[in-house]
Amino acid sequence: MTKQEAKQRIEKLKEEINHHRYLYHVEDKLDISDAAFDSLKNELEELELKFPDLITPDSPTQRVGGEPLDKFKKVEHSSPMLSLNDAFGQDEIKAWEERIQKLIPRAKLDYFCELKMDGLAVSLVYENGILVYGATRGDGKIGEDVTQNLKTIEAIPLKLREPADSELKKAGFSEAQIKKILSAVRSGKIEVRGEAIMTKKVFEELNKKYKKEGKALLANPRNGAAGSIRQLDPKITASRKLDFYVYSLISDLGQEKHIEEHQIAKLIGFKTIPENRYCKDLEEVIRFHKSFISRRENLLFECDGVVVVVNNNNLHKKLGVVGKAPRWMQAYKFSGKEATTKVKDIILSVGRTGILTPVAILEPVNLSGVTISRATLHNLDEIKRLGLKIGDTIIIQRAGDVIPDIVRVLPKLRTGKEKEFHMPKTCPICGGRVLKQEISGKKGESVGYFCANKNCLAISLRNIMHFVSKGAMDIEGLGPKIIDQLMQEGLVRNPADIYDLKERDLESLERFAEKSAKNLIEAIEKSKNVSLSRFLNALGILHVGEETAIDLANYFGSINKIAEADFEKINAISNIGPVVSRSISDWFAQEKNKKLLEKLLKFVKIENPKILKKKQTLAGMTIVLTGELESLSREQAKAIVRERGGDVSSSVSIKTDLVVAGAEPGSKYDKAKKLGVKIMGEEEFLGLVK
Ligand code: IVH
Repeated sequence: MTKQEAKQRIEKLKEEINHHRYLYHVEDKLDISDAAFDSLKNELEELELKFPDLITPDSPTQRVGGEPLDKFKKVEHSSPMLSLNDAFGQDEIKAWEERIQKLIPRAKLDYFCELKMDGLAVSLVYENGILVYGATRGDGKIGEDVTQNLKTIEAIPLKLREPADSELKKAGFSEAQIKKILSAVRSGKIEVRGEAIMTKKVFEELNKKYKKEGKALLANPRNGAAGSIRQLDPKITASRKLDFYVYSLISDLGQEKHIEEHQIAKLIGFKTIPENRYCKDLEEVIRFHKSFISRRENLLFECDGVVVVVNNNNLHKKLGVVGKAPRWMQAYKFSGKEATTKVKDIILSVGRTGILTPVAILEPVNLSGVTISRATLHNLDEIKRLGLKIGDTIIIQRAGDVIPDIVRVLPKLRTGKEKEFHMPKTCPICGGRVLKQEISGKKGESVGYFCANKNCLAISLRNIMHFVSKGAMDIEGLGPKIIDQLMQEGLVRNPADIYDLKERDLESLERFAEKSAKNLIEAIEKSKNVSLSRFLNALGILHVGEETAIDLANYFGSINKIAEADFEKINAISNIGPVVSRSISDWFAQEKNKKLLEKLLKFVKIENPKILKKKQTLAGMTIVLTGELESLSREQAKAIVRERGGDVSSSVSIKTDLVVAGAEPGSKYDKAKKLGVKIMGEEEFLGLVK
């Protein structure tokens, strides 16, 4: 993307984001999901990262966390309440670890993984074991004193619990640590930070109640929690039944690891999330994250990712803070169920009945942990209903949990370069005519487009099956069922498309486990090294089987020479007759096949045979064949002459060097005699060329 293009896109994104923000905050309308909104903000952030001088102060990315409200007393935090940088996907979390490793090369990194709650950050300060105040984050330095409201939350202890010596020992704390913890609980100052949240159940119950009472509904559990705490009447907070979980211990109680902060917090009376886990390396972190992509639905609270914390607290100081976020922590986010992306193209896939289905090719986007690069558009009516053009920015969601669906277009993000999609007149797969037909389905009458060639899919399927078979490209694991599925999805329309497949394309197919996707991609990769004869066989040229392919390969020695050869040249090969020669030369002349070959040659590495050239015993000689030969057909005899460097002529003249005469020779024999041209019988000729 050029800087100019980025500038235009940034402007459009800012407008779109502000528009939704206005609808939400001012008009109380939820017009777009949080996930789709975040997706737009991420794109903006990424563009601004690439072109930092395009950042303007009014950009939605420049908004600093909420200013403290006037209505509450202000509290200065003992240390800044920071925020977190986000990582989306494995690559970004790996890049984060690499950045750390660069800063502290020899450090052994282990981690503590916490579920990221979606609520309101709160700091709690205890003196002599008693809660003295609790505050919101505010602008990070100064927060609002919301003690009265926080005191209504049952999960927040008003007095800290004094753990037994034995409990602390059992948890593995040293004598010195135990002493420090106990003395702080009894007579010191302790600050913890955590998240005040509204569980999903409470959120739903409250909204049901509010609906009955005709009251305004809570937009989501996060707003439910934040709104409850930042209002003046503690009775209202109490009625909202909030919960609270600690995620860090700010005071020094001798903790050396982050996990110890959680252990201590629990022992002195706070709730910590039971699912949080120690991970010995980043691989375990990635596994932990992955395991919650589906499990997060069952959690009691909204969870939008995993907070990954470098477990060794000694490294925190070395790593420091960048901007507003500590380097030793990262929010490894779950990708939302909705996201925004661009439609690069619309192609057609063909179904078993010949029905042509438009498929949107997308700029790859992560949706619920899976990279999505295409979405079915069902039919032309759907494209019309969406008002979709090629080049549009769209919101995509995963319906059920598998098939991605385009929810809607964001037309305000158009540049004017978007293109309408038109149904082609001919089938993009077989070239057959495209027919328009009424179809009646469950949802009533609709119009469908079909390929008039009823065998379109079957023929393509058979071609591809032949292409991948043992004597051809030999791609293990690519059976008819998978090919069929790939064709239905529009992922593969001809043999060359196989080489475009990515692991993520396969993973999104039904019943396709990650492992088998990987194996298949490896098998496809392996097939790229192929002998010329197997490659020729794979092309599926009519009448060209394994044997003919070997003959062709040995005679011509390279695919380009075969592709350039005309009928005559092919027909000169001893074992290949005119029907086969015609079929071969016709195949290479067709535009469709030329394109296929060109694409295939970008991927495959062909091993050419070493040609054992025949001794050129007839080099420079012009030879005429006459009469019936006993052991050879006329074509074979011609081929023998040509393979040895001679030319075959159909008439005798003084330029003729030799006439080969079989049984009942005709006038050519007589003419040769008259001109004194050398004449030879079949047996003598075979002796000569042996
Ligand atoms: S650690 C550096 N751990 O996420 C400040 N934060 O996006 C991060 N949050 O303001 C503190 N769950 O309110 C931490 N397990 C968790 C969290 C968590 C939710 C919130 C926190 C913070 C925000 C940053």
